[in-house]
Amino acid sequence: MGDRLMLQGVRADFTGLERPVHGRRLVYLDNAASSQMPRQVMQAMQDFELDRRANIHRGVHARSQQATDAYEAARATLAAYLGADATHELVFGSSTTDALNQVAFGLSDDTDGQPWLRPGDEIIVTALEHHANLLPWRRAARRSGAHLRVLMPQRDGTLATAALAELLGPRTRVLALTACANATGYRPPYEAMMALAHQAGALTVLDAAQAAAHEMAPLRVLGCDFLALSGHKMHGPMGIGVLAGRREALERLTPLRVGGDMVEQVGLDDVRWAPLPARLEGGTPNVAGAVGLAAAAGYLQAHGRAALDAHVAALRAQAVAGLTALPGVRVLEGGGAIVAFVAEGAHPHDIGTVLDGAGVAVRTGFHCAQPLHDHLGLGPTTRASFALYNTADDVAALVEGVAQALEMLR
Ligand code: ALA
Repeated sequence: MGDRLMLQGVRADFTGLERPVHGRRLVYLDNAASSQMPRQVMQAMQDFELDRRANIHRGVHARSQQATDAYEAARATLAAYLGADATHELVFGSSTTDALNQVAFGLSDDTDGQPWLRPGDEIIVTALEHHANLLPWRRAARRSGAHLRVLMPQRDGTLATAALAELLGPRTRVLALTACANATGYRPPYEAMMALAHQAGALTVLDAAQAAAHEMAPLRVLGCDFLALSGHKMHGPMGIGVLAGRREALERLTPLRVGGDMVEQVGLDDVRWAPLPARLEGGTPNVAGAVGLAAAAGYLQAHGRAALDAHVAALRAQAVAGLTALPGVRVLEGGGAIVAFVAEGAHPHDIGTVLDGAGVAVRTGFHCAQPLHDHLGLGPTTRASFALYNTADDVAALVEGVAQALEMLR
């Protein structure tokens, strides 16, 4: 069984899964919100905090140098994980939201001179986006006088490359889109879309929050200018994220956070920013987080992202078959590690509460993607999402729990 191959030794690394909830075995299916952390990641962070902790880039003393080395080694590990080459740079921040805010601000703020976005320019986002890849662009449009244009999905929630081709024009300066819709798991043809946008002269921004734990083309062939991800969705710690991109594109960004460690020279009236990556990393960074995130990347690589994808695809197929067999349940068009559904006569919050009572953790609501739900004519949904430690028994518990919930609620 794929399960067995995938899971050899895996569950034992996630000790939190053994802690029951409501006296029941925990069936953790909320991985798209935050995945669990293996002990190897915790160990790497603990080793840093207990043995090498000091501020980075600031001391001539040995401990500061050790901390700096740990931080820069984490950067190199993640650059390799993403398949970056010498034309790329990688910046640490607190989350995908943080990275996307940095990009949107950095392309629209005029503090450092003429910004990339000017009045009358166009920014394209899709209606699939998490609010974190919509709201910063709405604000950037307001700040710069650019127009926000929205690529609408088809009726089933998928995107057509031809529809993007129609939206692109001589004033398109940015295309921002997701590599995997967090509300449904749908994977847009983002490679082709970014290639089209590049041809039109736009910069491309990829929200890889839901994709980074899975197989992706390496950055060096992906053709995106900016890529954002979060540690906690790939078995790393919370409070750490990455903005990776072409150095040339990152150079265009006005820093969002100004202050310590991101400057080369400061006078009372003038300032010279430090070169990348420090320029976009103002303040003392989350060094332990970076070390933990690098350990998480190593953990995923050791198990193999292709194997992980095959594993979650099998779990998803099992879930889709089980859920659609229940009366009045409709699974949304999606994919990857996510299955979202609605059920006639039962509110998702009630379904989620009944599932919680059975030890099954799922997410319910709009999943920070309200425009997509509006477009699909849907209210809230129930979303289950899988990771490498989930099993066929977990999926069976989900389906059984939903069946019970429907019986109780209808
Ligand atoms: N962005 C996270 C989710 O999709 C929280 O659940």
